[in-house]
Amino acid sequence: MEFTDQDISLDKKLFGPDFQWGVSTAAFQIEGAHDADGKSESVWDNFTAKKGKILNAHHARVACDFYNRYQEDIDLIKQLNIPNFRFSISWSRILPGGTGQVNQAGVDYYNRIINYCIKQGVEPWITIYHWDLPHILEQKGGWTNRDIVNWFSEFVTICAQSFGDRVKHWMVMNEPVVFTGAGYFFGIHAPGRSGMRNFTPAIHHAVLSIVAGAKILRKLLPNITLGTTFSCSQVEAQTDHPRDVAAAVRVDALLNRLFIEPILGMGYPIKDLPALKGLLKYMLPGDEDNMSFDFDFIGVQNYTREIVKSSFFTPYIGARIVKAEKRNVELTDMRWEVYPPSIYNMIKKFDAYPNIKSIIITENGAAFPDKVTGDEVNDTKRLQYLKDYLGQVLKAKNEGCKVNGYFVWTLTDNFEWAEGYHPRFGLIYVDHNTQQRIVKTSGKWFAAFLK
Ligand code: NOJ
Repeated sequence: MEFTDQDISLDKKLFGPDFQWGVSTAAFQIEGAHDADGKSESVWDNFTAKKGKILNAHHARVACDFYNRYQEDIDLIKQLNIPNFRFSISWSRILPGGTGQVNQAGVDYYNRIINYCIKQGVEPWITIYHWDLPHILEQKGGWTNRDIVNWFSEFVTICAQSFGDRVKHWMVMNEPVVFTGAGYFFGIHAPGRSGMRNFTPAIHHAVLSIVAGAKILRKLLPNITLGTTFSCSQVEAQTDHPRDVAAAVRVDALLNRLFIEPILGMGYPIKDLPALKGLLKYMLPGDEDNMSFDFDFIGVQNYTREIVKSSFFTPYIGARIVKAEKRNVELTDMRWEVYPPSIYNMIKKFDAYPNIKSIIITENGAAFPDKVTGDEVNDTKRLQYLKDYLGQVLKAKNEGCKVNGYFVWTLTDNFEWAEGYHPRFGLIYVDHNTQQRIVKTSGKWFAAFLK
């Protein structure tokens, strides 16, 4: 599909007065202060310390030093006219033992962030879990252990009781298919486990935990706006050969349907992805009643599309992703294809589910090799990316889709998981040696757009 944004004039007003604009972050990627004030080790602290796991052996012991520089960064959010700030809570700061004794210093830290946001007129949006499980819980099996539903419930309860008087927007969990898939199937993310026998229980326990967490939040904080987020990518078959088409159906079920469908009460998409029938073994009597929840909004996070072909030799899925660098398309620094219609098509796909009330794009953005010239970072590619993707969000909205918000990933260049600090996703450039921040051209554009 050809795309030009020329016929869409991008004016904030076109999205309507109630559209929510924001910027997204995650605790492990920005905070640093890995052992400050009683915090324990998370699976990501542990994983990044292992040899060969992270590109260039980068770690996040300091990251963007947001732990100490939160005022400066929230000031920047305000300066960029961004009304909503999404961040996550580090479980091992709040509960260093995973469960049990609350670490008041950890709670105080998030109170400082929330209070400073409110003081500056920035609305805090909390993601409870963005992948940094306390390592001590991983030693007990982590997401493969069904007890995690109780551990997670305890963590959610403490967050609700500590921050619920001031925070009105909450997301239970971030991108479950990524932390279970990369962390428990491929072993390329923390905790580095692999295989179906780790992946399938992790999936089911994540679903039960999302729902358990949501029920707790709903009960303790009946007036909040409550959501949870999902990654998604438009999936297309490389050819119209029935084998490739069938392969694309399987990959789509894995990447885009595995978590949202049970949450909507439709069960796991096992019919289209038979390799996951092992999931059934972890479903206990009564689980079906605890796998769905009526969220106020669904967070949709999209960056790219995937092209898929059938592959007899790939176990379980029988499909392979055709790398974007082999397809002669425009790439970001993650080697992901720049493909704006993907976000439109994913909004359409989610909007078509019968019981989604509202969609918020809780992440979209791009990494490019930004360079400082003088005191400027002229990131024209990111600027174009954001405009083109936003144009597609607007198109979906104009066609009547229930899309009601857009959050850029991300505020500052930060720790991009297994890729370390190499990919720069920020609206704000960070010199990782000096911690100096420079607002990029894209950040200045966003500020002007939001004004
Ligand atoms: C998804 C994740 O939620 C976030 O942590 C990550 O940095 C971005 N996408 C970019 O890969």
